[in-house]
Amino acid sequence: MKLKMKISALLAGLLVSAAAVGMAHSGSNVPPLAPLGDPPIPLDNKQSDAKIKLGKMLFWDPRLGGDASTGCVTCHEPDQGWAFSDSLSRGYPGTVHWRNSQTVINSAYLGKQFWTGSASSNESQAKSAATGAVAGNGESDVMEMRLAFIPEYRDLFKKSFGTEYPLIADAWKAIASFERTLIHNNTPLDKYLRGDKKALTPQQVRGMSLFNGKAGCIACHNGALATDEKYYNLGVPPAERWEDDGLAQITFRYEQYAKGVTQKMYRKIKDDAGLYYRNKEKADMGKFRTPPLRYTKYTAPYMHNGSFWDLKEVVEFYNAGGGSNDFTDGTMAKNKSPLIKPLGLSEKEVDDLVAFLDAFSGEELVIEAPKLPNYAPLPPPASN
Ligand code: HEC
Ligand code: HEC
Repeated sequence: MKLKMKISALLAGLLVSAAAVGMAHSGSNVPPLAPLGDPPIPLDNKQSDAKIKLGKMLFWDPRLGGDASTGCVTCHEPDQGWAFSDSLSRGYPGTVHWRNSQTVINSAYLGKQFWTGSASSNESQAKSAATGAVAGNGESDVMEMRLAFIPEYRDLFKKSFGTEYPLIADAWKAIASFERTLIHNNTPLDKYLRGDKKALTPQQVRGMSLFNGKAGCIACHNGALATDEKYYNLGVPPAERWEDDGLAQITFRYEQYAKGVTQKMYRKIKDDAGLYYRNKEKADMGKFRTPPLRYTKYTAPYMHNGSFWDLKEVVEFYNAGGGSNDFTDGTMAKNKSPLIKPLGLSEKEVDDLVAFLDAFSGEELVIEAPKLPNYAPLPPPASN
């Protein structure tokens, strides 16, 4: 027993030093935490100054939405972690969203976007967001026509894409280019992993070895993004607002309908079935994509429905072995990840781990809002 403990302590030590020098763990095939480089830029949407400037304006512009009241920034506020600091996001006027708003910071690196990975790039994500019923609720042709009547946009679209009139698909490309500038890759952890051993406090270094060892976080939050981009059910409790907030209930029920679940489920379901909606596999009930951990200092509350208000609550949830969920009929879901189990962390260890989570966030990224251009009548077509 004693010997076994010594060996595991030794192994934990090895894991930490392996992570520190950027090697794969011995005896495990998950990639270690690593400093984050530059985001990938797709060949068919290269960056340019005009495009980034345009994308920034469009990110703020509520005219890319149904009644010209709700733009990206409405639910991704720079001073709320580029997210929305309530459990469930605000929704299109007349609705409450059914999930927590995610930060757009570092979304440029993600191949699976949204809580259940339903978009594969910033371009396709932006289109879903602006047109989705409980988000932007915009109609593509109307939005495109609005852009055509804004001279400054005509000019910037021409400079960026070479077209005479703005195309709505290019609006999503410009927004994606802007998002590719919202990068958070110089955190204390990045500095530490690049060799600056003073970038973390001794408490954070202890927290890091718990993250990589006893607490087992590295199993899913791994690599440079601290996510494996896979899906798990942790048993996060259902959103309280589905019990007592009428508008939130309406959206929750509407989403069941829109996602085509069975009649019985539509009427009875009590919790967000997550990845299940995408493939209707029972085994995927309640699974969500592992989120990255950079910038989380600024993005409370946490989880797909904002169940936890600070990082300590999150760590205590894991320490207790996660939760369990019942979707319809009083039977607990059987697909909770076996990686989620009571951790036996002492109070001091919980604090060390929470302190380490802070190292995933550096300076807050706040930029000035752009000035939005006005509509102006189009000149009459040239006669010939
Ligand atoms: C009404 C609120 C609302 C509006 C408007 C909105 N979003 Fe979101 N956004 C959310 C919510 C909520 C989620 C998570 C939804 C889900 O997973 O089902 C999200 C998710 C995202 C993500 C995914 C991040 C990740 O980690 O996967 C990106 C990127 C994003 N939004 C960008 C945008 C852009 C760009 C626009 C404008 C075109 C926009 N959003 C408009 C609320 C909104
Ligand atoms: C089995 C894979 C897995 C393990 C192990 C795991 N996580 Fe997670 N983590 C997830 C998933 C999946 C979510 C989102 C769950 C949801 O919303 O229902 C998440 C969410 C989080 C969040 C919230 C992020 C946000 O943006 O809302 C934090 C913080 C976090 N985990 C930290 C940790 C820590 C610390 C550990 C170790 C004690 C850990 N995780 C272990 C998969 C995992």
